[in-house]
Amino acid sequence: MAKAFGKIILAGEHAVVYGYPAIAMTIDLEVRINARLSDKPGLVFLNPQIDPEHKSAGLFVEVLPKLTELLGPRVRELEFQIDSDIPGGCGLGSSAALSVGLIRAVLDFLGESRSSEQIAGMALELEKIFHGNPSGVDHTVIAQEGLIWFQRGHAEKIIPKRPLNFEISMASPHAGTRAAVQAVRHRYDQNPSGTMQIFEAISQLTFDMRRAIEQGDLPEIGRLMTENHALLKKLGVSTDELDALCAQAIQNGALGAKLTGAGGGGCVIALMPK
Ligand code: PMV
Repeated sequence: MAKAFGKIILAGEHAVVYGYPAIAMTIDLEVRINARLSDKPGLVFLNPQIDPEHKSAGLFVEVLPKLTELLGPRVRELEFQIDSDIPGGCGLGSSAALSVGLIRAVLDFLGESRSSEQIAGMALELEKIFHGNPSGVDHTVIAQEGLIWFQRGHAEKIIPKRPLNFEISMASPHAGTRAAVQAVRHRYDQNPSGTMQIFEAISQLTFDMRRAIEQGDLPEIGRLMTENHALLKKLGVSTDELDALCAQAIQNGALGAKLTGAGGGGCVIALMPK
């Protein structure tokens, strides 16, 4: 059985598409995929909730031809049974986990192995089906696992000095990563210098957050998350519901909170004191 975890982005979403850094980590939700020979090859979703966003767009038909291109003709003989804890359309990396999980499932079936960098490289090709032009942060953190610093295709592990405990709350599903990324592009085209200023500020706090994580300064990490949320709001990707969830988390004792992922709906992550 192949597995892949979901993920959250601690800092830098959207700016990362423009070459700025992001910090991301895997979470304790996973997709499980079993690949077996079958006379009815194809994708079988045991959990019908998986990724309604991409299912309705009919994008799944492109996945197996791409997987065959990447890993060879035996893929055409396989039935993939897919079970997932990761809700789709919420910014928790459901499609990237599916991409990494499918690749791991084929490799398991073939009895082959690849490095996490090679798996991330192949997953990028699958992610392009779902997201057009992804920065790569989602499938890279999912292929590598743990906490990573990501910039322009390069990833490094970050070692936190103290454990990081996040609570995740869910708002309504978002309209899709592709749509959110396009909306930010539109904003950028309308107002390049104003949008760049927001990206620069996000980038600065992402560097500061890395330092705070390595020093174990939890209040500072929380403060930077809240600052990141305010900048994402300025970028136009938050919603009233996401703002309210952040405010509520902080009122309930979280050290900071922000939306995670593309925005326009999806999830809020809140850093807990312990
Ligand atoms: O797919 P999501 O919701 O986790 O968003 C990914 C993060 C973005 O920066 C918005 C897009 C990208 O390709 O990095």
